[in-house]
Amino acid sequence: MIDAIATVERNDLFASTPDDQESSRRYGFLRLHLPQPQTILPGQFAMLKKHGIYEPLLRRAMAFYRVENSADNTSVEFIYQILGRGTSALSTMQAGDEVDYLGALGNTYDIEAVRGKEALLVVGGVGSAAVFMLAEKLLQEKIAVRLFIGGASRGDLLGYDDFVELLGSKNIVSATVDGSAGERGFVTTPLQKYLTENLSPKIIYSCGPDAMLHAVAKVAEANHVPAQLSLEAPMACGIGICVGCAVAVKQDCAEGFVYKKVCTDGPIFWSKELKW
Ligand SMILES: Cc1cc2nc3c(=O)[nH]c(=O)nc-3n(C[C@H](O)[C@H](O)[C@H](O)COP(=O)(O)OP(=O)(O)OC[C@H]3O[C@@H](n4cnc5c(N)ncnc54)[C@H](O)[C@@H]3O)c2cc1C
Ligand code: FES
Repeated sequence: MIDAIATVERNDLFASTPDDQESSRRYGFLRLHLPQPQTILPGQFAMLKKHGIYEPLLRRAMAFYRVENSADNTSVEFIYQILGRGTSALSTMQAGDEVDYLGALGNTYDIEAVRGKEALLVVGGVGSAAVFMLAEKLLQEKIAVRLFIGGASRGDLLGYDDFVELLGSKNIVSATVDGSAGERGFVTTPLQKYLTENLSPKIIYSCGPDAMLHAVAKVAEANHVPAQLSLEAPMACGIGICVGCAVAVKQDCAEGFVYKKVCTDGPIFWSKELKW
């Protein structure tokens, strides 16, 4: 882990539906230059904040989307949704500006578990950022990968073109709530259909909004498919100190569960472990 000042290389802002500003969600694609090389594993995240500001005081958690290493430095990329104070401050940054960077944090996906099976990546909204490096790694390991990507509208299928380049469009199933791309509805509907029609062994890896993760967990359980979920708990410190990110995990004890920290024990948990 390094605690450093990173430099903005690119910060491109875009909207989900440029013609309809009322309902449009806004996003940023951020590329940072780190002053030293760093090993970053799929599913890990960084805590980021615009350098030199005190409002907000705390850094915000962002999953690594892509990483590019050279001999003496690393460039890292993020996709963020502009929601509140932290991400709004990030959206004002331009090339050359400085960012408080703490990373790489958290655990990584269990890749050994998928050997001999097909990997189904199920993502919604900015959750797609947390699985792109996983898809790259699985392909390197010669594991079959199929992506189910969902969003409210076409412009919310984040990273879609990069995934098509990586996986090929025949291995991607998309769904949008408004029907503007792919199937109309939630991404769990084509996921269920695929699991009904294809009975070979599979593992699901998923990241997205809480409601989507609950739905994915139910589909996984009903079809007896193990699932790893990357959780997006609100985080203050990111390094196990504040306990603000606790999640209940089943355990054989009097209470039937213990609390674990999403930042240091996660963010990736087996679905069957979670006491939701
Ligand atoms: C491990 C991890 C990885 C993440 N990766 C990404 C990513 O790649 N891209 C991305 O856009 N976001 C990601 N997030 C979520 C991101 O950290 C929050 O959206 C961000 O902190 C919001 O900060 P803000 O100051 O802009 O909004 P705030 O002012 O803090 O909040 C704005 C609104 O968002 C809600 N909110 C805040 N934090 C979260 C959260 N963690 N989950 C759900 N709702 C929240 C608040 O309740 C409020 O309604 C990740 C979170 C975690 C824990
Ligand atoms: S965010 Fe502080 S302990 Fe997890």
